[in-house]
Amino acid sequence: MTIAHTLLRTLEETGREVMRFAGVMRYTKPDTEGVVIPIYPLSAEHLPKIKAHLLALTAHDRYLRFGYAASDEHIHRYCDGLNFERDEIYGIFNRHLTIVAMAHLALMSDPNTKTSAEFGVSVLAYARGRGYGARLFERAVIHARNENVSQIYIHALSENAPMIRIARKSGATLERDGSETEAYLSLPKRDLDSRVSELMIDQYAKANYLIKSDAKKFWSFLSNVQEIRQGVRHGRHQSAE
Ligand SMILES: CC(C)(COP(=O)(O)OP(=O)(O)OC[C@H]1O[C@@H](n2cnc3c(N)ncnc32)[C@H](O)[C@@H]1OP(=O)(O)O)[C@@H](O)C(=O)NCCC(=O)NCCS
Repeated sequence: MTIAHTLLRTLEETGREVMRFAGVMRYTKPDTEGVVIPIYPLSAEHLPKIKAHLLALTAHDRYLRFGYAASDEHIHRYCDGLNFERDEIYGIFNRHLTIVAMAHLALMSDPNTKTSAEFGVSVLAYARGRGYGARLFERAVIHARNENVSQIYIHALSENAPMIRIARKSGATLERDGSETEAYLSLPKRDLDSRVSELMIDQYAKANYLIKSDAKKFWSFLSNVQEIRQGVRHGRHQSAE
């Protein structure tokens, strides 16, 4: 797919999203094929949303994501321990600014060895199969390259077909050990293209987040005005009786 086609598809899907938001168009499942997905780098201010996302995962999904049966308490502890300075945490937001997909790229630098990173991801059940998991991995790879990371590592359960598909498609080497699979992806060195791509993708994601946030404020303002008008009308009606 050419860059021009990707841009056109992105503009087209953004337009549809605005129309869905404004109620002009009925909500339909987004078609993300060939569209640039806005992937937003998260910071500590998003912690409540990150927690809400992970707590919404079912017991089985938590097992797939963390490799153990993570309780609510484990999730709170994991979130409180997130290092936003060192690591990259990404989110994909829906129009209500709920995190529907998130990824954690944990950087592990040791002065004696080359820098490596571990990747973990989760997508809310209703938003799966749209390519969000794969796009988050691609986004993490760009950042890892720019941070001079030489290898990304993914730990997955062997039953986790979509995760293993994402790793395999990226060219990672898979090592299966019974119910567990480790995937290693060696990264090429950063270049001008990886630097510019990261800058552009970030700017697009930030602009998309601002638009969603402004639109959310506008619709909540409008619904408040409507509530007030209804209250006033109700009051007038009662005093007329
Ligand atoms: C793993 C997970 C993140 C995948 O997210 P997703 O957004 O649905 O993944 P994508 O839509 O990008 O699909 C990735 C690939 O898997 C394929 N796939 C999806 N579901 C599949 C299934 N049940 N069996 C086989 N392949 C499947 C897709 O077709 C796609 O391949 P393609 O690009 O060749 O078409 C999601 O299932 C999830 O959150 N699971 C729970 C947590 C978890 O397992 N995390 C991973 C451990 S770190």
